[in-house]
Amino acid sequence: MKAAIGVFDSGVGGLTVLKSLRTAFPQQEFIYLGDTARLPYGTKSADTIRQYSLQNVRFLAHQGVQAVVVACNSASTQITEPEIEGLPVYNVIDPGVQAALETTQNQCIGLLGTRATVESHVYQTRLKKQAASFGKSDVRVFAQACPLFVPLAEEGWTLDPITNLIVYRYLHPLLLEEIDTLIMGCTHYPILRGSIERATGKSVTLVDSGHALAAVLKKDFESGRLKASAEAGLRVLMTDLSSHLQKWAFEILEETSQPIEVVNTT
Ligand code: DGL
Repeated sequence: MKAAIGVFDSGVGGLTVLKSLRTAFPQQEFIYLGDTARLPYGTKSADTIRQYSLQNVRFLAHQGVQAVVVACNSASTQITEPEIEGLPVYNVIDPGVQAALETTQNQCIGLLGTRATVESHVYQTRLKKQAASFGKSDVRVFAQACPLFVPLAEEGWTLDPITNLIVYRYLHPLLLEEIDTLIMGCTHYPILRGSIERATGKSVTLVDSGHALAAVLKKDFESGRLKASAEAGLRVLMTDLSSHLQKWAFEILEETSQPIEVVNTT
């Protein structure tokens, strides 16, 4: 029986999604793939991001997973199919959109993302399209690309004074618009959550699509689309590995036991 759920991102960002999923489904087996040899995705063209993402899905399919979670917003803008190679595929954008529309009261939503994500307009379009079904037809979306966030998160500069300054610089225009909800539209950004919260204060609710995605998977376990594994398990695979990455990945996951395997997905 295919049991594991495959999860991929360009780097360590998707580990924030994996962590939420492992908390929600502690008995489930997961395989995580970080395409660290080709990181970042968020500065690349739509065609390249789609090509890399399809390679990742196929690679995970060959590992025998039962489903693939695209734990990368930049990749999720380009992978819109609900199934690939007969496997259910989950993106992180739809759960984030729904959580933001449920959360906002004043209908002013901020969006942080990579340039690829912000310029794809996928979030903005889906937020506007679905707003009416949440009774929030006047939704306004204020988007900000934050290209410096991914290197800061990969480096592990959380709550660093320089990170705090950069976060404030990116967020300031959104705060002037009085947003009450802020989508962390890149899976690397929850790593910088402390700095982001310092800048927003308590009046803005942060949306983390990793949390929102767990609810989607829960429904599919209940409907039988996903099958529970016989036992818990985790393999972490990366297309390139440094000693810093090895250490940092397990700090994010709060686990140390599992050695990371280096793989070639092409
Ligand atoms: N973590 C990825 C995302 O959610 C992007 C990071 C990158 O630029 O590679 O968009």
